[in-house]
Amino acid sequence: MLELKNIDKYYNIGTINEMCLFNNFNLTVGDGEFVSVVGSNGSGKTSMLNLICGSSHVDGGKILMNGKDITFKKEFQRYRDIGRVYQDPAMGTCPDMTILENMAIADNKSKSYGLRLGINRSRVDFYRDQLKSLNLGLEDKLHVKVGALSGGQRQAMALLMATMTDIKFLILDEHTAALDPKTADLIMELTDEVVREKHLTTVMVTHNLRYAVEYGNRLIMMHKGKTVIDKAGEDKEKIVVNDILDVFNEISIECGN
Ligand SMILES: Nc1ncnc2c1ncn2[C@@H]1O[C@H](COP(=O)(O)OP(=O)(O)OP(=O)(O)O)[C@@H](O)[C@H]1O
Ligand SMILES: [Mg+2]
Repeated sequence: MLELKNIDKYYNIGTINEMCLFNNFNLTVGDGEFVSVVGSNGSGKTSMLNLICGSSHVDGGKILMNGKDITFKKEFQRYRDIGRVYQDPAMGTCPDMTILENMAIADNKSKSYGLRLGINRSRVDFYRDQLKSLNLGLEDKLHVKVGALSGGQRQAMALLMATMTDIKFLILDEHTAALDPKTADLIMELTDEVVREKHLTTVMVTHNLRYAVEYGNRLIMMHKGKTVIDKAGEDKEKIVVNDILDVFNEISIECGN
């Protein structure tokens, strides 16, 4: 379970640009829940993910992971339990290293001597099997540099690398946004498979309303640091894309657009 409790978050404190993004923000994500998060630009989606992962820190409140207070835990400590995939395929992989080297790094991420670039030969078959599951032929390109792959191939690898260790939480920030529609569909299907297979508690930010509706068992819409839609289970299944568009329109009118 993931809990954000009474979160306050300010940016540019003490300057003329000071802004309060979250004021007493609360969110609880249950075990195995797959939450799709939508919302307009600047509504606080990435900020929320950064707080969960520790790439940014709260100004008030607590973050609990499986009941443990991780508010003051460092980012790298949190990544033992969290896999994260970003919008930019370049963020989740090392372009100057081969597919094999990338897999070895991901495999060692939770070990304290992880950056020693030793490839454990006995793991190569395991890496090959993992890559095979992507159905992109990457298992035959182990010695190709990742920088030579297409964005979609890299994102598939980033997803694989983020989820190959024994993580419990998956954090996705518009991870299909840079891909063509067909490749985006493929990455979404792979995502859904891995979430189910590993029973991952997942928070997926997306601007693709079709994905938000089709995938996951809970849907949240954010606006100005607050949740304005939060539907789970059967209520979520009833939501159609137009329902979300209607709320976007209402908000836009409220904001004078
Ligand atoms: N590091 C930062 N310093 C100052 N302000 C920031 C910082 N990060 C985010 N903000 C501000 O916080 C607000 C929320 O930004 P955030 O990136 O969380 O939005 P988002 O919902 O992810 O938007 P998008 O859909 O465009 O990715 C914005 O007003 C943004 O300008
Ligand atoms: Mg964002």
